[in-house]
Amino acid sequence: MNVRSIDHESPRPFPPGLAVRHPRASDHAALQGALTDWWGGQGGEAGAQQRRLLVPRLFLQHFAGTSLLVEEPVAAGAEGGAGEGAELRAFLIGFLSQTDAETAYIHFVGVHPEAQRGGLGSALYYRFFDLARGHGRSRVRSITSPVNRNSIAYHSRMGFRVEPGDRGEDGVAVHTDYDGPGLDRVSFVREL
Ligand SMILES: CC(C)(COP(=O)(O)OP(=O)(O)OC[C@H]1O[C@@H](n2cnc3c(N)ncnc32)[C@H](O)[C@@H]1OP(=O)(O)O)[C@@H](O)C(=O)NCCC(=O)NCCS
Repeated sequence: MNVRSIDHESPRPFPPGLAVRHPRASDHAALQGALTDWWGGQGGEAGAQQRRLLVPRLFLQHFAGTSLLVEEPVAAGAEGGAGEGAELRAFLIGFLSQTDAETAYIHFVGVHPEAQRGGLGSALYYRFFDLARGHGRSRVRSITSPVNRNSIAYHSRMGFRVEPGDRGEDGVAVHTDYDGPGLDRVSFVREL
């Protein structure tokens, strides 16, 4: 996979001082920690476990070229640095559809609570849009749970539209049992 296709300026630049790179399998533990801690306890331990299971190591092994991490460099010896050299601030797990040559898919995104509403999520999305375009994709898809109003608001701001569903919930089209009994989803699409 050609990661050099990240080569033109996104309309939402990353805040200065942060490093952006593709993930490696060795980032798995840090990502699992983020999935546990960054959602403010949403869904309790069961919710945290569900989030962790949504980002197994395979994404870092086989979808690294279309996934991104944002890190803040930490000075050696600084508190929290522990010699690691960088702290995870945000991530995006995405891939190119194997089935639909027009489509790229954003599977998961997260921003450190202290950095939320600071432009990292949108910078990651626009970087992924560039990547997808570089691979000839003309649309991006994503899904979320109807209860995740933050995600619905955020995707709307990012230019996604909600696809028609089989019912409405608080004004949003929902696909009932999309991922199994009781697992309703909202489906988003954005043209590139
Ligand atoms: C949702 C999330 C990925 C957004 O990333 P972010 O870095 O906070 O978002 P940005 O600062 O880039 O915001 C981009 C735009 O979306 C809007 N936005 C972001 N979160 C929003 C929210 N919760 N409600 C309404 N609008 C929101 C911002 O106001 C901004 O709009 P603008 O373009 O008019 O300025 C991040 O906040 C996050 O990880 N939240 C916690 C977990 C979560 O809810 N995840 C759902 C993932 S989809």
